[in-house]
Amino acid sequence: MRDKTEPTLESMAAAAGAAAEDHVWLDVIHKMDEVYNDLLKYEVALEEKNAALEDSQQFISSVLTSMSDVLIVCSRAGIIETVNQSLLTLIGKTAEELVGTSVFDLFADEASRRQAQHHFAGHPGEMLHDCDTRFKGTAEPVLVSLNCTPRVSAVGKLLGMVVTGRPIGELQRAYQALRRTHEELKHTQQQLLHSEKMASLGRLVAGVAHELNNPISFVLGNTLALKKYARRIGEYLDALHAGMPQDECERLKKALRIDSILADLPSLVDGTVEGAERTRDIVDGLKRFSAMDRDVRERFDLVPVIERAVHWVEKAAPERFRVTLRLTAPMEVLGSPGQMQQVVMNLVQNAVDATAGLPAAELGVSGQIESGEAVVAFRDNGPGIAPENLGRIFDPFFTTKPVGKGTGLGLAISYGIVERHGGELSVANHAEGGALFTLRVPLAT
Ligand SMILES: Nc1ncnc2c1ncn2[C@@H]1O[C@H](COP(=O)(O)OP(=O)(O)OP(=O)(O)O)[C@@H](O)[C@H]1O
Ligand SMILES: [Mg+2]
Repeated sequence: MRDKTEPTLESMAAAAGAAAEDHVWLDVIHKMDEVYNDLLKYEVALEEKNAALEDSQQFISSVLTSMSDVLIVCSRAGIIETVNQSLLTLIGKTAEELVGTSVFDLFADEASRRQAQHHFAGHPGEMLHDCDTRFKGTAEPVLVSLNCTPRVSAVGKLLGMVVTGRPIGELQRAYQALRRTHEELKHTQQQLLHSEKMASLGRLVAGVAHELNNPISFVLGNTLALKKYARRIGEYLDALHAGMPQDECERLKKALRIDSILADLPSLVDGTVEGAERTRDIVDGLKRFSAMDRDVRERFDLVPVIERAVHWVEKAAPERFRVTLRLTAPMEVLGSPGQMQQVVMNLVQNAVDATAGLPAAELGVSGQIESGEAVVAFRDNGPGIAPENLGRIFDPFFTTKPVGKGTGLGLAISYGIVERHGGELSVANHAEGGALFTLRVPLAT
């Protein structure tokens, strides 16, 4: 019998087999450890990547949400893949409702839809810039300025389109408000102009009343005197015709002061005529002021008109008044040659008056064409215009001339005429002395 504890061959072999198995197990455990460690490492890396991904997703989503412009990402066929909050707010839909539907369904009208379809179908790879389209809004269509940009893969393959749009309704509303304000401003300006016109009309009427008052009152005074004289002359003639004796006639003649009446008569009549003439002149001036022939509109050369006007005034002016003309012919303008002549005559006459006290009075008239305008300068060597009068010189009845010498209508009339010719009459004092009037009239085209 063998002892039970004594190792046999079989038990030895079995022990050896068990040892080998342990070794394998150890190996396996070791490997598992390694794999587990790797897994842990991968998990950490994955978590880190995941966190970074989440960050960037958050970033993109916050950017998309904060964008005031609408954004739509869609496939080549126009199927919506992503939209931003602005679009959802604008059209009052959810992302779930939109994703997977056609971008063309967003448009409010057929024209906008066709325009987008044409772009997608015809030129999918090209950009579309600031194209005005209408989107279906929550209540009514909204105007959106659209931009389309192709979206391509890393290898340059066209994946779809990125559509961005700016709602321009606000802009349009602001523009309309601006236009309304502008209209109101224009209206106010017109009203101002109108009241300015009324004020100047008021001044005109007051001036006319003032101007007419003087001659009319002395015509009236003279007429009353004439009436009185007529009664006395009548009484004297009646006595003569009744055969009154000579000496009584003489007495009556003295008593009625017939001689002084006869001596006074011519000056009375002259005064009356003068008053009537003055009244006529004022009315004439007013007629000029309202420019009866304002409708005359013909093409004419300004140069001979100026020459003629200068010639006529010069003829009536004193010898010592000299005019130097420097005009580059021709200056074709459109309007009334008669009225233009009146303007020039007024200017030349004013120069004659302003230089009245000078031993060598001079007026330089020079004209040339400047950027489509006939520009004529009238410069005299008179005293010029007092600075405080520069702003009133074109006012009707503004005159510094003594009563009976000027009506103050010349420049006012001239100003109106030049304005009706589309031009401008301006005044300044020349740097080297004397008044400088500048006449600008647009050339006939
Ligand atoms: N060349 C000038 N130099 C200095 N002052 C001038 C000149 N031209 C005009 N003025 C001033 O302007 C005023 C107005 O001129 P305007 O031609 O309108 O009227 P007027 O000459 O006084 O009268 P009217 O021309 O009606 O007979 C003149 O009274 C004068 O004071
Ligand atoms: Mg004058």
